[in-house]
Amino acid sequence: SGPETVSPTGQPTGAEQARMAQSGAYLTTAQGVRLPDTDHSLKAGPRGPVLLQDHHLREKLMHFDHERIPERVVHARGAAAHGVFQSYGTAQGVSKAAFLAQDVETPVFVRFSTVLGSRGSADTVRDTRGFATKFYTEEGVFDLVGNNIPVFFIQDAIKFPDIIHAGKPHPDREIPQAQSAHDTFWDFVSLHTEATHHTLWNMSDRGIPRSYRMMEGFGVHTFRLVNAEGATTLVKFHWKPKLGVHSLVWEEAQIIAGVDPDFHRRDLFDAIESGAFPQWELGIQTFPDTADQMFEGIDLLDPTKIVPEELAPVKPVGLLTLNANPSNFFAEAEQVAFHTGHLVPGIDATDDPLLAGRNFSYLDTQFTRLGGPNFPQLPINRTHAPVNDMLRDGMHQTAVHRGVAPYKPNSLDGGCPFFAGADTGAFIEVPVDVPPGRKVREAPASFGDHFSQSRMFWLSMTPVEREHIIAAYTFELGKCYEQAVKERTLAVLANIDPELCAQVAAGLGLPVPAATEPLADTRPSPALSQVGRTWPLD
Ligand code: HEM
Repeated sequence: SGPETVSPTGQPTGAEQARMAQSGAYLTTAQGVRLPDTDHSLKAGPRGPVLLQDHHLREKLMHFDHERIPERVVHARGAAAHGVFQSYGTAQGVSKAAFLAQDVETPVFVRFSTVLGSRGSADTVRDTRGFATKFYTEEGVFDLVGNNIPVFFIQDAIKFPDIIHAGKPHPDREIPQAQSAHDTFWDFVSLHTEATHHTLWNMSDRGIPRSYRMMEGFGVHTFRLVNAEGATTLVKFHWKPKLGVHSLVWEEAQIIAGVDPDFHRRDLFDAIESGAFPQWELGIQTFPDTADQMFEGIDLLDPTKIVPEELAPVKPVGLLTLNANPSNFFAEAEQVAFHTGHLVPGIDATDDPLLAGRNFSYLDTQFTRLGGPNFPQLPINRTHAPVNDMLRDGMHQTAVHRGVAPYKPNSLDGGCPFFAGADTGAFIEVPVDVPPGRKVREAPASFGDHFSQSRMFWLSMTPVEREHIIAAYTFELGKCYEQAVKERTLAVLANIDPELCAQVAAGLGLPVPAATEPLADTRPSPALSQVGRTWPLD
């Protein structure tokens, strides 16, 4: 059996203790011993020296000294809320996931975040936003760890430390704290041109959302669904906000960052507190699970590409409502641990090389951030499904495991046999064919197209959205010290669009470079513009 709420000696354990914290009638030490006073140290007389004997003083100070945990290595700044996901059942044909069956209600916890700033940074900076959802399903936890931008900077996880080193503040002067206006960021994205598409989204109004309640969310990677018959479908996940997609304009974002750096956090909390519960529809774009994993010429394993909605409409599969604020920010928003590898039967990973690295990285970082391997036992991370694992001991273990034989099968703990493959409700990785090949450090040729979708995005913008993009590039690049970085970035912009390049060059007072590649022959995708964008919610 799994962790218990009562130990063999009848004492409360784990979540039970957490629930009971601060519940007694008297002030006590951590050991439950009643205290007469917490305002005066024990001294040898009112004017005498403080005594080492004072356990309460030492316990209080030492606990305080250790109150801070490391902030997240990325997405440190965030805000979160509880809610419920109501499934329409419309995904049932493609996925056997129990939480996607008709009319199932699943409790969820959602954390929104910026990526680059530290935990105390301002909310309205230009950045990507995280949109991470934990579904406490009856089959275990499913995490959809997404962003508000549907593509990513890099195609292979091995570059993640590099892009983040480039995006975080300069190692020498530790600036800027939370935006992309600096040399290392532009140096990286102009040298690693697969970052062009994501960077263009960042420079658009999507980089300065009006509210967490008014952002789309995207799973980014292509995942694989499997239905009850074992048939598979490739899928991209989308969150569509009921309030529509809205952004600030740059001047508003700047003023708010000074006047109310907690603007997004406050907005989310106040909306929920006043009963204006934010809602999103979860939608799926589905694609045939072909051997090449391409759709209409788009490589579904390339996380720098979208599939335009006119080619694959987003089908609504359920409704998310955020209806309760955290009662303790640390216990909930800070201690929550999301992971792309938290999947349930019916949803599986694909061979997207960025996803593979993420599936390693989250658990690894959480071992440090949350102090060892037992953070799944923290109340916010606990699955609502029964747990019967072979994980034992370790730092901060709160479960009192029963039995003597933490291995399966065993003949000592009163049965509990384990027959591999016998559990039809188990999560079984879809046994897809692995493409033949040789071990190489190489990307597929299709990953070499860095500009066609950037151009599609640019062409989809209305005149005012283009003005904002030009102003954003000009402002951010204007903060760079290195001339060569600005010039190289202009050369990248020339591959997106001559007008964009010329306008930014004029703003920077630099010559207009020639494109290094022929302009992509692409058409606008109307769904990419925010202007007049509504989502058909019925
Ligand atoms: C947070 C790694 C790409 C979305 C994090 C964290 C790490 C990480 C280490 C901190 C987690 C923690 O301390 O609990 C990576 C790596 C990536 C990658 C290695 C690529 C190789 C992405 C992408 C997305 C994304 C593509 C969006 C689709 C998020 C979100 C969070 C996060 C939303 C914050 C989760 C929260 O609110 O606690 N990532 N990430 N990441 N990442 Fe990634």
